[in-house]
Amino acid sequence: METRMMKYYIETWGCQMNEEDSEKISGILKINNYEPTDNEKDADVIIYNTCCVRENAEQKVYGHLGRLKNQKKENPDLIIAVTGCMTQQKDAAEKMIKKFRHVDIITGSFNSYKLPEYISRVKHSGETVVEVWDKEKGIVEGLPVDRKNDMKAFVTIMYGCDNFCSYCIVPYVRGRERSREPEDIVKEIESLIAQGYKEVTLLGQNVNSYGIGLERKMNFSDLLKIVNSIEGIERVRFMTSHPKDITEELIQTMNECDKVCEHIHMALQSGSNRMLDKMNRKYTREHYINLTKRIKEVMPQVAISTDIIVGYPGETEEDFNETLALAEEVKFDAAFTFLYSPREGTPAAKLETDFIDEETKHRRFSKLLNSINQIVETKNKEYEGKIVDVLVESASKNDDSKISGRTRTFKLVTFEGSKDLIGQIVNVKIVEAKPYSLVGELV
Ligand code: SAH
Ligand code: SF4
Ligand code: F3S
Repeated sequence: METRMMKYYIETWGCQMNEEDSEKISGILKINNYEPTDNEKDADVIIYNTCCVRENAEQKVYGHLGRLKNQKKENPDLIIAVTGCMTQQKDAAEKMIKKFRHVDIITGSFNSYKLPEYISRVKHSGETVVEVWDKEKGIVEGLPVDRKNDMKAFVTIMYGCDNFCSYCIVPYVRGRERSREPEDIVKEIESLIAQGYKEVTLLGQNVNSYGIGLERKMNFSDLLKIVNSIEGIERVRFMTSHPKDITEELIQTMNECDKVCEHIHMALQSGSNRMLDKMNRKYTREHYINLTKRIKEVMPQVAISTDIIVGYPGETEEDFNETLALAEEVKFDAAFTFLYSPREGTPAAKLETDFIDEETKHRRFSKLLNSINQIVETKNKEYEGKIVDVLVESASKNDDSKISGRTRTFKLVTFEGSKDLIGQIVNVKIVEAKPYSLVGELV
């Protein structure tokens, strides 16, 4: 009888939620006697954890799946599994299995923890398994998690999204909003701290609506206070925040809780009220600007980052200029910019008019990117000469004598230092600001 452990390889696309799901898939495979490998060619089981938030995310997966055809030919015992958001879309699994006959398992985000069972089924019967649950059957607690990083961890506090922004597929593939019980969150974080973790990032598509639906009356600020007081925790981050749900209570809580870092990611999407309305975002540019002012008033060192979509149907030059102007005014510390990508099943994809031509979209995109780059560089310059706390995370890939880590405001800092400092929080003086990172020296 064969006793060799089967090797698995996981490739993950998409957001931190997917990364965390992959860590759970890895955890559950490990306790079922599978062994991880970093080499796809060497794997007995290949798992793709997919994203469908934009078309290019899906294209990448298709490209990879296509290339696996040969590997499967050479090794017919290879088991190929696809999971994640892509397969959760309507009819996606059926289409995928027709197009990629070499795929053995198609499952979704809600039941990917059952992968060991599905793999066994394929191994023993050779059948193809297509099992995608269209919704959650309660939150599954207590799954083993095989984390990539041994210093900072993602902790999901809520699943799904109820906001239905008109362009976005996430609510359709991730289901309705539901919050984890605070005890389960605390238990997980306590166990992380016991293992030596220093930092947790609380995850949710909109962490600010945490608590809705729980029997006990509690909100995200209450949760932050509880997490902040966990013995041994060094840093607490969270993402992401919907601008419509950021309250004065949250701003005060961030400020009061010493472990909660001064960084907030709040997606803007557009600086034009007309566009925000069409996108179903439920706030105005004025509200957004006032919020950022208030946050900076309470926490002058705060870093604000954002997401922006360019080329939503109907976006005029004037609308776009309002986005540019807002970015100039708020002076983001980081901004992720995206070209609008129609997603089947969303209200925006049903709009039949006013699509922005590719050339205009790309022109606006580069203009925004240039402007953001300049803003970020100027913001980084403000750090020159300052002394900051850095949680040392890793040795530099290019230079053996250097180590790097992040400030509380999530800026990447590289400096000379010993690898022994990895995992510690050290004081670093910033000597030079680069466009996307800071150079410092230990003090
Ligand atoms: N829940 C998070 C966003 C998750 S999706 C939030 O609201 O902050 C990450 C980002 O992808 C979004 O903020 C948006 O900027 C972008 N995005 C979502 N759908 C998109 C689409 N159809 N086309 C282009 N960008 C999109
Ligand atoms: Fe998508 Fe909007 Fe939900 Fe964010 S808040 S996941 S953009 S629907
Ligand atoms: Fe993508 Fe799913 Fe996240 S669509 S962005 S992986 S929630």
